[in-house]
Amino acid sequence: MGNLVIVGAQWGDEGKGKIVDLLTENADTVVRFQGGNNAGHTIIVGGEKTVLHLIPSGILHKNCNCVIGNGVVVDPEVLVQEIELVKHRGLLDNPERLIVSDRAHLIMPYHCRLDQLREEAKGALKIGTTLRGIGPCYQDKASRRGLRAGDLLDLNAFRDALKERSDFYNNVFEKLFEVKPISFSSLCDQVMPVVEKLVPYIKDTTPYFADKIANKKQMLFEGAQGACLDLDHGTYPYVTSSNTVASAASTGSGIGPKEIDQVVGITKAYCTRVGSGPFPTELDDEVGTLLQNKGHEFGATTGRRRRCGYLDLVTLKHAARINGFTGLILTKLDVLSDITPLRVATAYKINGKEIHHVPSRIEELEKCEPVYTELTGWKDDLSAINSPDALPKACQDYIAFIEKFLDIPVQIISVGPERNQIMHLKKIW
Ligand code: GDP
Ligand code: IMO
Ligand code: MG
Repeated sequence: MGNLVIVGAQWGDEGKGKIVDLLTENADTVVRFQGGNNAGHTIIVGGEKTVLHLIPSGILHKNCNCVIGNGVVVDPEVLVQEIELVKHRGLLDNPERLIVSDRAHLIMPYHCRLDQLREEAKGALKIGTTLRGIGPCYQDKASRRGLRAGDLLDLNAFRDALKERSDFYNNVFEKLFEVKPISFSSLCDQVMPVVEKLVPYIKDTTPYFADKIANKKQMLFEGAQGACLDLDHGTYPYVTSSNTVASAASTGSGIGPKEIDQVVGITKAYCTRVGSGPFPTELDDEVGTLLQNKGHEFGATTGRRRRCGYLDLVTLKHAARINGFTGLILTKLDVLSDITPLRVATAYKINGKEIHHVPSRIEELEKCEPVYTELTGWKDDLSAINSPDALPKACQDYIAFIEKFLDIPVQIISVGPERNQIMHLKKIW
């Protein structure tokens, strides 16, 4: 029991949406605490697919409250569209179930434009962002130039503040990038009718969380992206602009770190990455293609092809350290059938020397060659198996190898995209 943080342990897309949906069946509250609509979290129930970018993945359970915390950057257009989608599906009959923190920062059209212009200017060195304005919005937050959800509670004052930001950005666009400015009236036409629809959801979440904590209500904190995309601990500069590690659940929602009881990392049984940046176990061969095709590895937000490779236990150990994992969830095990032998990276080699950590300097990480341990693969289809004892011996050994290497228990394994394609090995709550 207690409060649980669920985070990605790799480069994102580990299956957080599916797992958060599964674990929020009896939770009181689910909270997004960082990132924005760069995230794409997929839930599939009875063949029906839902992809969420901002609303927490507990929304399918009608008794679970959903909070978008202060650490999230909110694009009002995207959130309003998503609210309409869930309302249409009958999932938000009680609007009080969704709360947007008044301290969450807002992504405005000029942020998206800046994201695009910067990426274009970088050429071959581009980060491969989702172009959703995430970096520019967090930059404004740190520069104390941001607009927050709470500013929408006085729409006239918000409009004035928007004019000031619009003038600032038009200066940047014209002088730095030599492109046309965005007219304030068209910016207002785009923004104002949308933002007013968010007003009923905006609240101060501090008393909300204080009340939940006092009454020992169960809360799940849903991470976006993954450990290797963390702004401080990831493969900088090829990272996102927020802290994706579990401790961000505290700052990103406004609860003390003592309120977090368990930190569970989700990892695929192999690795993927979308966007640029180092990826030591990346495969450019038929195994990579097999993982890509069988795993349907296309981004849920941008549709981009995900790069694929073997499981990297060096980065996973790094993720375990920076998050303090109490447990692990292993997804997409079904995709590994037919790959034999199976390789997992257990060290890196750089300049002829073996190392067991992830170097902080990108120049070094780019030179790292994975050192593989070979394990026996299996041919059996796992997708219909529902008892861990029925898994092929080689698959049980694969799980045991990961647990032993990391010294962390695997608590759940997932063998398909559907909600029920799951096996509990050790109880979470
Ligand atoms: P998230 O960003 O971490 O929520 O992950 P995404 O939703 O972006 O990507 C995960 C993809 O894998 C989605 O299409 C899921 O439906 C799918 N998925 C999740 N778990 C499994 C699994 O165990 N096996 C298979 N084959 N697909 C899975
Ligand atoms: P979920 O929550 C995978 C990647 C982008 C890019 C880098 C920076 O679905 O796991 P940004 O737009 O954040 O400035 O892009 O981060 N990225 C993700 N990759 N899954 C995500 O989210 C991601 N969110 C951002 O591809 O490399
Ligand atoms: Mg995703």
